[in-house]
Amino acid sequence: MPDWLITGCSQLLTLRGPVPRRGKALRELGIIRDGAIFVREDRIAAIGPRRRIEKIRAARRAEKLDLRGRVILPGFVDSHTHLIFPASRAAEYEQRIAGASYEEIARKGGGIRSTVAKLRRAPASQLEVRAIANLNEFVTHGTTTIEAKSGYGLDWKSELKILELLSQLHQRHPVDIRATFLGAHVVPPEFRKRPDAYVDLLVQRWIPTVAMAGLAEFCDVFCDRGAFTVAQARRILTAGRAGGLVPRIHAEQLANTGASRLAIDLHAASADHLEKINAADIRALALSNVVCTLLPGCCFHLGLSHYAPARPLIDAGAIVGIATDFNPGTSPTLSMSMILSLACTQMRMTPAEAISAATINPAYSLRQHDRVGSLEVGKYADIAAFDVADYREIPYYFGVNLCSFTMKRGAVIHSKNL
Ligand code: NIG
Ligand code: FE
Repeated sequence: MPDWLITGCSQLLTLRGPVPRRGKALRELGIIRDGAIFVREDRIAAIGPRRRIEKIRAARRAEKLDLRGRVILPGFVDSHTHLIFPASRAAEYEQRIAGASYEEIARKGGGIRSTVAKLRRAPASQLEVRAIANLNEFVTHGTTTIEAKSGYGLDWKSELKILELLSQLHQRHPVDIRATFLGAHVVPPEFRKRPDAYVDLLVQRWIPTVAMAGLAEFCDVFCDRGAFTVAQARRILTAGRAGGLVPRIHAEQLANTGASRLAIDLHAASADHLEKINAADIRALALSNVVCTLLPGCCFHLGLSHYAPARPLIDAGAIVGIATDFNPGTSPTLSMSMILSLACTQMRMTPAEAISAATINPAYSLRQHDRVGSLEVGKYADIAAFDVADYREIPYYFGVNLCSFTMKRGAVIHSKNL
């Protein structure tokens, strides 16, 4: 693998500075104008103004890469995805447009349960083909690290099928995949009449096995109306933590349940969604180290107008992140720049806040902030370049993909019109 001297960065967004970012610090992107990066093997060896970096003797011997005035930033870190699923739910999309709600469809056996039924029948090879196509698409959109959840299997064999696939893809594909066990996505049909027996199974058998086998780093629960209660989620996440799985929670998307308080209580890495939190929840989250991962793609796709309160969270000092929540039911997008656009126009985040929320803060929520999420000496050379002259144009243009170059650990994995 060659070493690289990357120049032609009209704005080089380093994101150097405090980790995690809260309040006003979210707006600090550490911008270098006319910047350059010297990449040695998989890491950043030097970064700064072009004139200084070009003088480094070893950099002069490196392969030259001129990005010709593009805007450069750390590869996006997408900290909430459901990467492995067997098919779209386009028919439900049409039903919702005609007036059915997400919860109504779920109560009638559609929603997550319909994806589960299909996934159980799908061979791993078929899931793999889809997953690889989607990972490649993440790359062309500038995403270099993702979190990915199980949760569409909900029987042991099928959950294992997902987790093993995630671990193989992590080895084989350049995108870094951090796995989360979401056995508690919904109560599977076999346990409909005895949900607590399913929780027992998760707590006593599956979670310890997943943890022991190193098949996941995180444990997640869909703790919401129609899924798991706060008491059940507490048992599940506590069992996960006992095995070394760090908690994450799908919290307060459909109803205010107290799930965000549970996240704080259990020192969860992240509480995700948060559309229905109240003022007291916001104050409590702001005092905690839980990353508030907002998923505006869901409201957009479901046609809902009540987005999560990003502005009050940021102003109160919470650690805010944004993610795609790539999944077939509520957010079928893997475009982080589309999520940036929604964060800005629908949640009133500034473009700079949105970029911090898509890079360094999610890296912190995945416990990867020492390696990714900012462009600094010693970190992985995970880099995305956009065909714009000003970083604010990344969210400003929407529904187009302006990412023209992606590097992962020093290897060029996407390049167009260079
Ligand atoms: O994050 N809310 C729970 N899980 C997903 C939706 C999954 C689905 O509908 O398939 C979410 O929105
Ligand atoms: Fe989700």
